[in-house]
Amino acid sequence: MPTPQPSIQSSVDLLLGPSGRAIAEAMESDLLHAIQHHLNQERQAHVAYFAAAIWCAERELRGFASYFSEESKNEHIHAEKFGEYLISRGQTVQLDSLERPKQSWTSIEDTVATSFLMESDLTTSLQQLYAMAERSSDIRTTVFLDPMIEKQNQAEHEFAHLLGRVRFADNHPSALLIIDNELSQGKHQPAQL
Ligand SMILES: [Fe+2]
Repeated sequence: MPTPQPSIQSSVDLLLGPSGRAIAEAMESDLLHAIQHHLNQERQAHVAYFAAAIWCAERELRGFASYFSEESKNEHIHAEKFGEYLISRGQTVQLDSLERPKQSWTSIEDTVATSFLMESDLTTSLQQLYAMAERSSDIRTTVFLDPMIEKQNQAEHEFAHLLGRVRFADNHPSALLIIDNELSQGKHQPAQL
């Protein structure tokens, strides 16, 4: 069995983050707290969409259920991306307890409208992060946020589109079933010109 080699002490002064990982640039504490908060907001959105998927599945709305289920998974992926980013910056990820999600809605229009508002809150939160990162000249964070914000704008656009179609259906079951069928086929994109 080979004898373990003694670890070689580095003679270089390293900046270490709270996780003990080497970091090139410390994070401003307000920005760090805001990112932690946003990560938890994404987790809350994951649970909120899971609840919406259940509500739709209970009402035989297969397409809406699968659409919300997919959205739920996407929100979890977003939370993971923020977690990976914080780790890459030598930070430890703080997971908060989640609130019990809303589980009752008066109509499918109510469900989609609630979702649109949640997306718009997520957009606002991301924009605030971006402004904070810019103020503290944290370019790594602005670069990380760029594609996140682009995807978020797209999510908001899609929900506005879906809400428009649901409002157009005006609660008529036959019209809602057409939309439900479209969603089952993965047709949720807004019109393209
Ligand atoms: Fe998200």
